[in-house]
Amino acid sequence: IRVLSVASECAPLVKTGGLADVAGALPAALRPEGVDMRTLLPGYPAVMSALRDGAEIGRFDDLFGSPARLLAGQAAGLDLLVIDAPHLFGRAGNPYLGPDGRDWPDNPERFAALSWVGAHVGVHGAGGWQPQVLHGHDWQAGFVTEYLRQMGGGPATVLTVHNIAFTGATAAWRMHSLRLDPGRFTVDGYEYWGGISALKAGLMGADALTTVSPTYAEELMTPEFGMGLDGVMRHRRESLTGILNGIDTDAWNPAADPAVRPYRDLDGKAANTAALRAEMGLPDADGPLCVIVSRMTHQKGLDLVLEALPALLDHGGRLALLGSGDPTLEYAFRTLGEQNPHVAVRIGYDEGLSHRLIAGGDAILVPSRFEPCGLTQMYGLRYGTIPVVGLTGGLADTVINASPAALAQGVATGLQFSPVTADALRGALVRLCLLYRDRETWSRLVANAMAQPVGWDQSARAYAALYARLTAEP
Ligand code: ADP
Ligand code: GLC
Repeated sequence: IRVLSVASECAPLVKTGGLADVAGALPAALRPEGVDMRTLLPGYPAVMSALRDGAEIGRFDDLFGSPARLLAGQAAGLDLLVIDAPHLFGRAGNPYLGPDGRDWPDNPERFAALSWVGAHVGVHGAGGWQPQVLHGHDWQAGFVTEYLRQMGGGPATVLTVHNIAFTGATAAWRMHSLRLDPGRFTVDGYEYWGGISALKAGLMGADALTTVSPTYAEELMTPEFGMGLDGVMRHRRESLTGILNGIDTDAWNPAADPAVRPYRDLDGKAANTAALRAEMGLPDADGPLCVIVSRMTHQKGLDLVLEALPALLDHGGRLALLGSGDPTLEYAFRTLGEQNPHVAVRIGYDEGLSHRLIAGGDAILVPSRFEPCGLTQMYGLRYGTIPVVGLTGGLADTVINASPAALAQGVATGLQFSPVTADALRGALVRLCLLYRDRETWSRLVANAMAQPVGWDQSARAYAALYARLTAEP
């Protein structure tokens, strides 16, 4: 089955979060299932320079304001179609934000162009390659279905919701610059609370919807998590499935990770903990070394960590954080790190350090208020770094809480807390410290975590089955 993945970011070329990891991992994960997946990406500078032997396979006279080209080639082991449109994508740095840290004002048009080219390839193919399924990711691919309608049909469509908090909303007056059919500014179309939402358009129009965990699929249909689109999600209930993300088990393999001292068990892990302590300048102590690798946003619940931290430190714990985002949170953590010798903070984005933190930590904290899937708790599992997570979304689906029952059965892999509040997190951190001190139980937890499957196998089969269903002759 030939599938075009339409994505606004894709690891390792351009990444702001887990969406890039997933878009980057899917093609290889799906190959054994007989899926030929190519990925359509905007030609950001990082993508253009990575594209080897890019061949021009199409031209557009006016792609949202200027001429553009469609290139085909390979980079980082991925089969890519790349939109060479400097007026839209020739901007270095973060794919969504300008140098002032704000969204580029023309983001609606930039990603409408991505969707438009996606639809065009769906209808006309690309260099003789004709996709049977268009698989879009998040709001940036939301208008694919609107443009397909205008172009008179095309292949089957799938839209994956990685995070419904990003609705791709913009003002109604933009419908012309976005090349939308004004007649579709309706509740069944792209209209969203009086404005336009690219995500809404895709949620209404795609043949199948997926999201990245079964629990988030349920949550999306509730007002608490649906971001004003819960009605749409309930309306499309029959077409929605939750397919859990996997992680790249080659890039995240403690036994062969070039960024760390490779290990296979708790004993081997100790060298990484010592190295991390030295690197971060943290003292030895008798509690767990907790790590965080995260975007710093309200979603991720890091303000709860600030509140609950004294409980961890009182029990001999320490904290090492790597992240960037909300300036208020950055400032609060930076200050904490300067004032408290048991807390080390690195503001920024650092792939290598993220591996050393996850290898060296005893536990990884993911106190998200909502989390469609979450990848870092799975990195934690694979590296025997016990996840402490809020009971929500993919965090609920990937961690087995150390309840008395799970401990008695010997199956626990981490700690979950609920509701996602500072009080409940405090309770979980104290539980963590007590478990950490019980060396026998702790080593069992670590062994269980490291043995838990977190790869793509099962989910790749689920996607392949979905594509097969969508392309089956009626
Ligand atoms: P989200 O996509 O919501 O940010 P995920 O857990 O799905 O959350 O994915 C986050 C990804 O980004 C992971 O691969 C994580 O390791 C990475 N990441 C986040 N912040 C940083 C950082 N400051 N430095 C390095 N990697 C980071
Ligand atoms: C989003 C979500 C995250 C998920 C990732 C990949 O960024 O916030 O939970 O893991 O997409 O699907």
